[in-house]
Amino acid sequence: MTIIVTGGAGFIGSNFVYYELENHPEDRIVCLDALTYAGNLATLEEAMKNENFRFVKGDIADRDCVNKLFEEEKPDIIVNFAAESHVDRSIENPEIFLRTNILGTQVLMDACRKYGIKRYHQVSTDEVYGDLPLDRPDLFFTEDTPIHTSSPYSASKAAADLIVLAYHRTYKLPVSITRCSNNYGPYHFPEKLIPLMISRALADQSLPVYGKGENVRDWLYVEDHCSAIDLVIRQGREGEVYNIGGHNERTNLEVVKTILRELDKPEELISYVTDRPGHDMRYAIDPTKIHGELGWLPQTKFDDGIKKTIKWYLDNEDWWQNILAGDYQSYYEKMYKDR
Ligand code: NAD
Ligand code: TYD
Repeated sequence: MTIIVTGGAGFIGSNFVYYELENHPEDRIVCLDALTYAGNLATLEEAMKNENFRFVKGDIADRDCVNKLFEEEKPDIIVNFAAESHVDRSIENPEIFLRTNILGTQVLMDACRKYGIKRYHQVSTDEVYGDLPLDRPDLFFTEDTPIHTSSPYSASKAAADLIVLAYHRTYKLPVSITRCSNNYGPYHFPEKLIPLMISRALADQSLPVYGKGENVRDWLYVEDHCSAIDLVIRQGREGEVYNIGGHNERTNLEVVKTILRELDKPEELISYVTDRPGHDMRYAIDPTKIHGELGWLPQTKFDDGIKKTIKWYLDNEDWWQNILAGDYQSYYEKMYKDR
């Protein structure tokens, strides 16, 4: 089979490329990625050596580029990771989120209709469900939880999900959607909580915790997300949504303190800064459906995954130092200077 992986030079997409090359050596993997600030070709260096892998630089919202690739590759499956993915950036500049996340999805699905495919898979997020209150630990997101978004990012992802489901109902396009909780692991761009805190703690810089740090996220090791998507695209039912998450809930403060402990750095580095506007309180996934139908279970507990992740950042300092040396400095100053 030929699988087009869009956004494969980003965090989760690149982990998925490696997962597929290792677990399905019979398949051809074609990565389509625009190489925005979040895409990094260095991440795919090892994949480039594999003859079953091809990298194509291109924009999912560029119809000519997408159609040309479909004509060349005649893909069986599309897995769409390509997106603008950072909530804080969506608050600063929503427009690019609507273009990439919504229109880009539509362009890909139009190509699927035109050329025919076995499966279009949309990589979505639990953020489409909005948030849960902190005082109701009994509540979890199921696939039937109503869409109720908070940020321009989550609104754009929800819009894309609805269009994907509309193409299934109206045009019988064979689609599936997964909605996953927060990921962490190798190749995570250092603007997101965990890699930001690791890289700043290593440099003895202050760690900016939004508000009181009491917001809760349900952390999933990225490889567990990849194994879930792999199951859904091969065995999941068409037209279905599957939630992915692993009951690994932590407050942001717990996460930051764990990182400090593992790195043997003082808690005095923590600096409480102005909260994110519209900040979601708690995300928590009920993974009963994917477990019951496909037998998926996460393999990595947070306490082990965070150790592995920190070790990866220690062993791969060149990878993130190169990012920090680029435009990233001005990003950090712009986003955090008035907080
Ligand atoms: P990321 O920001 O690390 O990577 C996004 C990738 O998409 C980059 O390589 C970028 O160059 C590429 N891209 C952006 N715009 C593009 C365009 N117009 N055309 C082609 N490529 C483009 O994101 P990530 O964290 O790896 O997230 C991947 C997907 O998973 C996203 O759809 C996101 O919504 C979803 N998701 C992420 C998380 C998480 O915790 N990171 C959780 C659940 C779902
Ligand atoms: P993030 O990694 O941006 O993921 P998301 O907003 O998609 O959940 O943020 C995770 C949590 O960490 C979120 O509650 C916001 C918080 N946060 C901070 O407290 N400080 C930071 O510098 C960042 C980037 C995030």
